[in-house]
Amino acid sequence: MKSTALSQLAPVLLSFLASGVEARHAVDLSVQAGYHVIHSYPGLTPPESLLTLTKQGKVGGIILFGENVDSNVSNVIASFQSAYAKSPSYSGKPLLIMTDQEGGEVRRIPGGPDLSAKEVGESADPSSAATKAGQEAASTLSGSKVNCNLAPVLDVFRQEGNFIDGAQRSFGNTSALVSECATAWITAQQAAKVIATAKHFPGLGDAAAGQDTDAEPVTIKLTLSQLRSVDEAPYVKAIAVGLDMVMASWALYPALDAKNPSGLSESWIQSELRKRLGFTGVTITDAIEAGALRAFGTDENRAVLASKAGMDLILASARNATQGEGIVNALVAALNDGTLAQDSFNAGTQRILALRGKIPA
Ligand SMILES: *[C@@H]1O[C@H](CO)[C@@H](O)[C@H](O)[C@H]1NC(C)=O
Ligand SMILES: *[C@@H]1O[C@H](CO)[C@@H](O)[C@H](O)[C@H]1NC(C)=O
Ligand SMILES: *[C@@H]1O[C@H](CO)[C@@H](O)[C@H](O)[C@H]1NC(C)=O
Repeated sequence: MKSTALSQLAPVLLSFLASGVEARHAVDLSVQAGYHVIHSYPGLTPPESLLTLTKQGKVGGIILFGENVDSNVSNVIASFQSAYAKSPSYSGKPLLIMTDQEGGEVRRIPGGPDLSAKEVGESADPSSAATKAGQEAASTLSGSKVNCNLAPVLDVFRQEGNFIDGAQRSFGNTSALVSECATAWITAQQAAKVIATAKHFPGLGDAAAGQDTDAEPVTIKLTLSQLRSVDEAPYVKAIAVGLDMVMASWALYPALDAKNPSGLSESWIQSELRKRLGFTGVTITDAIEAGALRAFGTDENRAVLASKAGMDLILASARNATQGEGIVNALVAALNDGTLAQDSFNAGTQRILALRGKIPA
């Protein structure tokens, strides 16, 4: 099992993992850090600087928003992939190209799924509706060369019209329904070779209307037993069907960590998600520039804290051409001065490249 997984990795990483200290010289740390950072840009035309960074191997992927999308988006994506494929730092695996294609109101690429998660959950046969929605999401995204969906939402909503239910982004108010829909969606979408991401771990289903981590700090006051029995239950099922990726929430959950939001919390990411739930896939942050993190310094500082907590991918989604590069440089500095442990960072790099190895070229 282990050697099969390793043989799928880029040769550059293999030599890197094989030879410890020497490898620090064999592989440019900025290329390794680059695998861990998802960049973004404003408008329809990517800045030349981002293509240059891509050729330098400092871009692990791109997140697309509505403002980046018109009928030419697949050509734009192809231009990133081909710039990367020609780069001396090419890993042999495509860049991650991701977006939020949840269905209903939250869709960045024109096309399905038309139904919101709530409508899927309320349909006569939620499991088939979720399978269809997962297939539609995959087909819309592949049609535009997007290879990763930041969906489905696994949050179990507590109050009608609250933060996650207000935009119909939750499949339902019970873990059983959310689990049923999420596993069907994930299975269908991943079978169509589009990476699925379960979010927002351990759950935003209790956030009130207006409690938006993009804008401000949010505290979820559920007990650990409530969080485990209701909010985490869909993750157990999703992990069992082979879920690729988990996005952590930026809310604070004092039941396990009174100081650090989930995505900055070793307790949530290492102890709960990896050790207790057994997740071995890739972790990704929510927007690193989120207002919820205002007490945690600059985007660079937050990225180092997130990486230290166990987040593999950092989402630099401010649509600002310099944000991602600043984060790559900060990760390199933190590896060099020992703030980040090289061993655990290597394990994350290995997970990311293994995931990228699943993307059709
Ligand atoms: C489409 O995108 C490609 C790649 O970025 C670019 O070269 C081309 O000019 C764009 N075409 C239009 C019509 O915008
Ligand atoms: C879920 O919503 C339904 C319909 O509004 C309601 O009857 C039920 O009590 C709710 N279940 C939970 C666990 O809140
Ligand atoms: C881009 O992001 C960096 C890092 O977050 C920030 O320092 C800078 O002010 C931003 N620039 C713009 C134009 O928003």
